[in-house]
Amino acid sequence: MSVQKIGLLVGSLRAASYSRKVALEMIRLAASGMKLELIEIGDLPLYNEDLEQQVPPSWHRFREAMREKDGIIFVTPEYNRSVPGLLKNAIDVGSRPYGKSVWNGKPGAVVSVTPGGLGAFGANHHLRQSMVFLNVPMMQQPEAYLSNIAACFDAAQPEAGARLEKFLDGFLKAYSEWVSGTLGNDK
Ligand code: FNR
Repeated sequence: MSVQKIGLLVGSLRAASYSRKVALEMIRLAASGMKLELIEIGDLPLYNEDLEQQVPPSWHRFREAMREKDGIIFVTPEYNRSVPGLLKNAIDVGSRPYGKSVWNGKPGAVVSVTPGGLGAFGANHHLRQSMVFLNVPMMQQPEAYLSNIAACFDAAQPEAGARLEKFLDGFLKAYSEWVSGTLGNDK
């Protein structure tokens, strides 16, 4: 199989976002058989079907960037026990026009991130619900619920950072193997 081209979508716009830090760490850790690319979603106008008459350039850029990817990893915080509107908007933009969804059949995975203690489970599973409809097979195991994430980026707690690195390394290896199996070897 050639190098797996994987899009990374981050569900936060915050400059100091932990989710973005996790995504950047994943890019750093990606093995040689996989190329992870951050795809920005902060400039996508809110989905409005009327705009399909004259597609905003950022929608076009996003759809094309996604189309050429072999898979997709979502790294997201939880907002009010669900996915941030930012990320839901990107999912909606990619899903249309009807019949031309960029998501269809692409193997996906989700990493949910929170400074709290519940692993952003609500966001993780609400996202999976949309992926069922969009025909995105989602990696089941290992699940990735990253709690108490601040510690992982605290220089005074290097053991937490090391644990995160080990977890993400294993997660990416599992994802890469699973993508190979899902797409077959002819890709
Ligand atoms: C939050 N936060 C939050 N955390 C959580 O674990 N469960 C939740 O339901 C929510 N809800 C929520 C709603 C809104 C509107 C905000 C702004 C925040 C806290 C959130 O996890 C925290 O701000 C993270 O730092 C956000 O992720 P980034 O920006 O660091 O990636």
